[in-house]
Amino acid sequence: MCLGSFADASQGLSKEIEQLEGLFTVETQKLKQITDHFVNELEKGLSVKGGSIPMNPTWVMSYPTGYETGTFLALDMGGTNLRVCQITLTDQKSEFDIIQSKYRMPEELKTGQADELWEYIADCLMQFIETHHGDVSKMDTLPLGFTFSYPATQNYIDEGVLQRWTKGFDIAGVEGENVVPMFEAALAAKGVPIKLTALINDTTGTLIASAYTDTKMKIGCIFGTGCNAAYMEDCGSIPKLAHLDVSPDTPMAINCEWGAFDNEHLVLPRTQYDVTIDNESPRPGQQAFEKMIAGLYLGELFRLVMVDLHDNHSAHIFSGQDISKLRRPYTLDSSFLSAIEEDPFENLSETRDLFHTKLGIEANPAELELVRRTAELIGTRAARLSACGVAAICKKKGYTSCHVGADGSVFNKYPHFKARGAQALREILDWPEKTDPKEEDPIEILAAEDGSGVGAALIAALTLKRVKEGNMHGILHPENFH
Ligand code: BGC
Repeated sequence: MCLGSFADASQGLSKEIEQLEGLFTVETQKLKQITDHFVNELEKGLSVKGGSIPMNPTWVMSYPTGYETGTFLALDMGGTNLRVCQITLTDQKSEFDIIQSKYRMPEELKTGQADELWEYIADCLMQFIETHHGDVSKMDTLPLGFTFSYPATQNYIDEGVLQRWTKGFDIAGVEGENVVPMFEAALAAKGVPIKLTALINDTTGTLIASAYTDTKMKIGCIFGTGCNAAYMEDCGSIPKLAHLDVSPDTPMAINCEWGAFDNEHLVLPRTQYDVTIDNESPRPGQQAFEKMIAGLYLGELFRLVMVDLHDNHSAHIFSGQDISKLRRPYTLDSSFLSAIEEDPFENLSETRDLFHTKLGIEANPAELELVRRTAELIGTRAARLSACGVAAICKKKGYTSCHVGADGSVFNKYPHFKARGAQALREILDWPEKTDPKEEDPIEILAAEDGSGVGAALIAALTLKRVKEGNMHGILHPENFH
């Protein structure tokens, strides 16, 4: 198809495109307003009274030096996979060896029974140890860092009370409970030779793993199925930890759980589609920020827009076609939007094929144009809103120049996410335009080191080290640290 006819065809839906642009575009002023509110909310979360962002202390009380050593296991209970690693932090500064295995996280476990989840995890760990160590009866117990990437209050580093499930998990009997005894009971029942040293969040792991190799790293972020960040705070700025009675400059990594930002719906520019996502999620009213940004929801947002434009607008896109596949909730994930945004062809032929194979829909040129623009709008909004969180932490800490370590499927795979985020940071923080495109931004969001593997091992190492030095803050089971 030639460009001219394609452009003509797209005229038909220009009104709809314009409306969507109005709904999904977040201008600089709005970004700044969101960021300022975010700074206040971060502070509120650290106060005794608290706020909607949990700001959970993690009991990680130093950055790594690069000279940590030892062999550790790490378990990552992510959304899609279970990953088990053995990490050896070597004598060489900032270096490590890693062996790892991935196990599928069966979909039915995510909404099944708690016991089945823990048993499955214990089985995977046992399998890993048997493969790599042989006879378990003859070996010493190994220290484990467990990456449990859900909001958990941690009165201790070896304890975690799940505040609520996020990312589509919904297993009864775990919310409000300490997950560690459940996990340990499953290990004991199967005789798995492991002692839990630290329960960690993926963001804290990302922060520590990234700081291991780059001392400019001050924030760890995940932009994946879920979305969150961790950074190092001073205990003197954490009123809810005043009882610790430590010197004000003692560091404490904070797992922000910023997905909960603006649960009150005061500043985020929510559309009717965001409201639907929330209402139909297992936890309405929770994770307002995350639901506009995270990979789990991007495809669903797109789907809701498409269904709405088919059913309710004068345009009636995909008119006369069977859209039953498109009507199925969560049938599209963020990789579908990535593929649309990556379609290199002017006539969007890859997008047309995608609609045909995945949804059984024949999209005409005007519809394809609308599809592409919708994906761009949703992806751009996600990146720009994400930048508000990063800017807020930097503003709160007074960082004018630093590195931010980021991981997750959206950050690593979604086209233009990084550039769009960087552009938004520039607008929020009023940086002048670059004179040389190769110039570093004052605050750079970079690909992180492996947080739930190396980061978990480092946190286990840092914890063992500080216990040895007599710092027992946040240690529930000292016997696990010898
Ligand atoms: C969880 C966080 C996690 C983030 C990224 C969110 O849904 O609540 O604990 O860090 O996802 O995985």
